[in-house]
Amino acid sequence: MNDRSLSANIVGDVPADNCAARLVRLFGSQAEVARRLQLDRAVVNHWIKVGYVPARWGTEIELATDGRITASEVVAEASSRRPIKLKSRPDGEGPFGSILQGSDTMSLQYAPSKRITSFHPPQRTLMGPGPTEIHPRVLTTMSQPAIGYLDPIFIDMMEELKSLLRYVFQTKNALTFPVSGPGSVGMEYCFVNMVAPGDKVIVCRNGVFGGRMIENVERAGGVPIVVDDEWGAPVDPQKLEDALKANRDARVVAFVHAETSTGARSDAKTLIEIAHRYDALTIVDAVTALAGIPVLVDEWGVDAIYSASQKCLSCTPGLSPVSFSERVVDYVKARKDKIHSWFMDMNLLHSYWNGGGGGTSTAPVRTYHHTAPTNSLFALHEALVLIREEGLENCWARATRHHTALKAGLESMGLRFLVRPEYQLPQMNAVRCPEGVDEAKVRRTLLNEYNIEIGAGLGPLAGKIWRIGLMGYSCRTENVMLCLSALDQTLSDQGMKLHVGEAQGAAHAAYASLHASIAQQKKERAKVARVA
Ligand SMILES: Cc1ncc(COP(=O)(O)O)c(C=O)c1O
Repeated sequence: MNDRSLSANIVGDVPADNCAARLVRLFGSQAEVARRLQLDRAVVNHWIKVGYVPARWGTEIELATDGRITASEVVAEASSRRPIKLKSRPDGEGPFGSILQGSDTMSLQYAPSKRITSFHPPQRTLMGPGPTEIHPRVLTTMSQPAIGYLDPIFIDMMEELKSLLRYVFQTKNALTFPVSGPGSVGMEYCFVNMVAPGDKVIVCRNGVFGGRMIENVERAGGVPIVVDDEWGAPVDPQKLEDALKANRDARVVAFVHAETSTGARSDAKTLIEIAHRYDALTIVDAVTALAGIPVLVDEWGVDAIYSASQKCLSCTPGLSPVSFSERVVDYVKARKDKIHSWFMDMNLLHSYWNGGGGGTSTAPVRTYHHTAPTNSLFALHEALVLIREEGLENCWARATRHHTALKAGLESMGLRFLVRPEYQLPQMNAVRCPEGVDEAKVRRTLLNEYNIEIGAGLGPLAGKIWRIGLMGYSCRTENVMLCLSALDQTLSDQGMKLHVGEAQGAAHAAYASLHASIAQQKKERAKVARVA
């Protein structure tokens, strides 16, 4: 019997279009499948006989077939054909002890059609625009036992968490806490509380996230005045000033400090100074900025700021640290109209995060507002402890050091940054895709062959740039070197004329020169200290 007839004559309960048979159809013969996957032909023959491909071959098959048979199809089929048997569990025992009911036939009609087992994500190197890799200490802390959100131990932890957030925001603002929800919720929290129907808000837009702010103003009933800048350029302070001159009744100015969609950094200090000159409050998006570059809330006089847990804080997604000045808190308290969102009403949430201060505090007792995501908050606490241990300024310096090395490597390959050097964010590197290179294919190859995730361009930059993140725990030498070597190989496979290894050499040289200048500075400081 030849290979083709074998694949066509599969019997029993094995579907004729199982992954093993599809492989043979795709490649023409069992021998060819074996050759492509570098396997013994007997192995492929066995797959055909049993009617499935073992789950561990999923990724290889996806690669070999260029995605025509996906890893998840292989895994799903394998687990339904050969379910994992939990031998240690005797009959009649469930994961939580003896099963008393006996059967669950009634509910079975709604059960998933395939057998679903525990989910185990692969270990990826995350170098996109977020989420980032998570430090093992944060993951361990997150898996500690659950406790109640009003447990006194938890409340002590909340107080520590707030003080750690004040440290990363560089503020003494009393109202500094993590909103339950991703960065988008933090954004909405600011707009919903600070924009009343009819309020004029100047929104500076130089990328995707400025656009989201406009949506928020409109949905809060405000009137957005848009100051547009080119994607990849910073917000132009002069344009902001012109808009404020033309709209003296504008109540709020909103802008993104670190535009994740382009990798551009705006001059937050100057923009806030201008807004205050015209008596407008400021809303600053620090989702990507916080802990990657200096964010000095008190020094700059920021009125309202929000960030997200999954960027340079390197925690699990789903929390949005925010901080508000007294001026904003008073402004929101004095609002006569009802804030349009119950969940986000600052006056209501205040008593959960800032109530019952203990000791001499006159704050009202801390009460239930919503069920806080306790384990995620443990994780954020640990992520912030890590930043405190490293030192915030060292965190910023680490981002800059690895950005310098990554940039040296990328530029040695002839790649060009989207943003001019003086406005480049160290933690978000937007690099132009060279002509003739398939942007999406490069990302796919990095993911499938090297387990590295980098980001694509958004909106008008889709297909034109890659976004390489150096945020939080992902910002490490080994990631920079792995990314450069993977890109080097992938781009040269796509026909770019590169000297393989040169990019890593350039990055090494950049690291070496940075280390030498740091050593020199230390020496000079020691000399000054001796003389003093
Ligand atoms: C600058 C900026 N603002 C807001 C957001 C929205 O945050 P999230 O995706 O956590 O909702 C993002 C997300 O990437 C961002 O980069």
